[in-house]
Amino acid sequence: MTPSLEARSLVKRFGALTVTDSLSIGFERGARHAVIGPNGAGKTTLFNLLAGALRPDAGQVLLEGEDVTAAGPDARARTGLSRSFQRNNPFPDMTVAENLETALAIAGGVGRVFWRGFGHYRSLAEKAREIAGSVGLNMVGDTIVRQLSYGMQRQLEIGLALAAAPKVLLLDEPTAGMSPEETEAMRHLIAGLPRSITVVLIEHDMDVVFGIADRITVLDQGRVLLTGAPEKVRDSAIVRERYMGSGG
Ligand SMILES: Nc1ncnc2c1ncn2[C@@H]1O[C@H](COP(=O)(O)OP(=O)(O)OP(=O)(O)O)[C@@H](O)[C@H]1O
Ligand SMILES: [Mg+2]
Repeated sequence: MTPSLEARSLVKRFGALTVTDSLSIGFERGARHAVIGPNGAGKTTLFNLLAGALRPDAGQVLLEGEDVTAAGPDARARTGLSRSFQRNNPFPDMTVAENLETALAIAGGVGRVFWRGFGHYRSLAEKAREIAGSVGLNMVGDTIVRQLSYGMQRQLEIGLALAAAPKVLLLDEPTAGMSPEETEAMRHLIAGLPRSITVVLIEHDMDVVFGIADRITVLDQGRVLLTGAPEKVRDSAIVRERYMGSGG
């Protein structure tokens, strides 16, 4: 089966430093695929290469089987790749619903929204409510984003990414800086995303990784150390030794 998203022999250098070292990886359709590894392993760089924010020095990126290596981030987004950044910048003085409606309008093409008239506006509001529900924000649709907790702001970021109706969603450390309660809410949200979306998740919290992922890749110095089912990764001597404490 053609992977939803695939990197083939990707190379990225920053000066003398090879950050992505002939890296090949496939993300199967509908997978919950976690990418783990130590700080500086090249995880975020891989996302930048996949999303088109960075151009590789060599290798290809294929999205739904199509070579998008030469395509920029916007074209890849239109082909179905969405990402949530460390910061996704919702509009802080607008409500949750207004943010989602704006994201939906942009995703649908702002021009079209105007000539489609009120019927379309109503469907935008409905769609925004649906997304708010799917990211656990159904009770705070009318709340100004600035007044949301940090955890809820990050839930909204995923909602904004979902507004583009992605086929593939890249999440870079969605639980970073969260309290245990916020982390649990985020874990629940990601676990509940529709299976039609391929989710690729960079995450340091191993409870979140093993709670969500059906496939795990360990990156180390820009290379794939290991890819496999969670049990295989958990049982791997090298992973236990390096990333989970030797006693683990
Ligand atoms: N724009 C850049 N210019 C130069 N070096 C960079 C650049 N971006 C990243 N690097 C370096 O590339 C390496 C990999 O960085 P990257 O951010 O991809 O790691 P990471 O696995 O996401 O780490 P973390 O877990 O800390 O987020 C690091 O050594 C980093 O300093
Ligand atoms: Mg990173």
